Amino acid sequence: MQDYHTLKQDYKFTPEEAELLKEMQPHMQSLGTQFVEEFYDHIWGLGNTAQFLKDKEIIARHKEKIRLWYIHLFNGTYDLQYFMYLYKIGEIHVKIGLPTHYVNSAFNFVRTFILRSIEDNFVNKTQHVKEIHAVEKIIDMNLDVLTSSYREEELSKFLSMSKVEKTILSGLKKFNSYINFFLAGALALVAFFAIGLFVYDIYLLFFSDIGIEKGILTVLGSLLVLWAAIELIHEEINHLQGKGFAIGAFIMLAMAALIRKILIYSLSAEKADDLMSIGAVIVGLSISYWLVSNKKDSSH
Ligand code: HEM
Repeated sequence: MQDYHTLKQDYKFTPEEAELLKEMQPHMQSLGTQFVEEFYDHIWGLGNTAQFLKDKEIIARHKEKIRLWYIHLFNGTYDLQYFMYLYKIGEIHVKIGLPTHYVNSAFNFVRTFILRSIEDNFVNKTQHVKEIHAVEKIIDMNLDVLTSSYREEELSKFLSMSKVEKTILSGLKKFNSYINFFLAGALALVAFFAIGLFVYDIYLLFFSDIGIEKGILTVLGSLLVLWAAIELIHEEINHLQGKGFAIGAFIMLAMAALIRKILIYSLSAEKADDLMSIGAVIVGLSISYWLVSNKKDSSH
């Protein structure tokens, strides 16, 4: 952990502010139970909270720890032991795989709760401003230490690798980004060809004996493929910007291509067998698409 003196200096946290926090403790402590209840209401609205706070026993234990942590915020003594205690809390959250988003959101609640509570006890403006400064600093220092465990977890994973492993990892990352740019280029090419296909289908519609019905269905089919290709490019752009990649878009493209085939084949009686098998593949792809998008929803 970074030296705690430096941490206090970086936040310009003064002994007077520590003293002020101590003076606020009795009032804050009297709100302890209310704090814990509202804290829980807040974090329970965060989606997958129950996945981490699994049973009544853990919840009861956590509630008590949260109450103590809250009271300790106003202890007035912020020494090595205090910061080690915060660091350990961070480590536990890293160990259970709690995303930092939860911690950040919980802190946002803590901040608003405390600011609301000191407003209730307003004496005069100078005092009020001093209290706000002290509270903001102690909250931010807490958040800093808690999230530093997350950063160090990443760093230690990297530091514990040998030189060869690090070289391989960096090489792979570079290679991966080149491939991704290549993929983006290839997708643009596909979209370009899909436009060509669309133009060609229009040409067939007007200048061949394909027939108006089949001609229009063919044009519709190529538009469908173009739309799916655009969707895929959109996903790839997201991926390049570090937002993850949805396999669903690929499945959608495959479905669009097959639906296009069905649109065309549906008009010719001799392709009935092909139609059946394409239909079966589309059903399979739809199920995969449903599974993939369901999994994505539940992991958010
Ligand atoms: C202001 C934010 C938070 C603070 C200050 C905090 C504080 C703590 C403390 C003091 C512990 C006990 C550490 C120890 O045993 O040494 C703990 C553990 C734990 N926390 Fe938090 N927590 C926060 C947010 C959250 C959130 C948002 C979740 C879940 C969504 C969570 C889930 C847990 C779990 C599952 C444990 C382990 C409980 C056990 O098995 O005893 N915490 N937390």
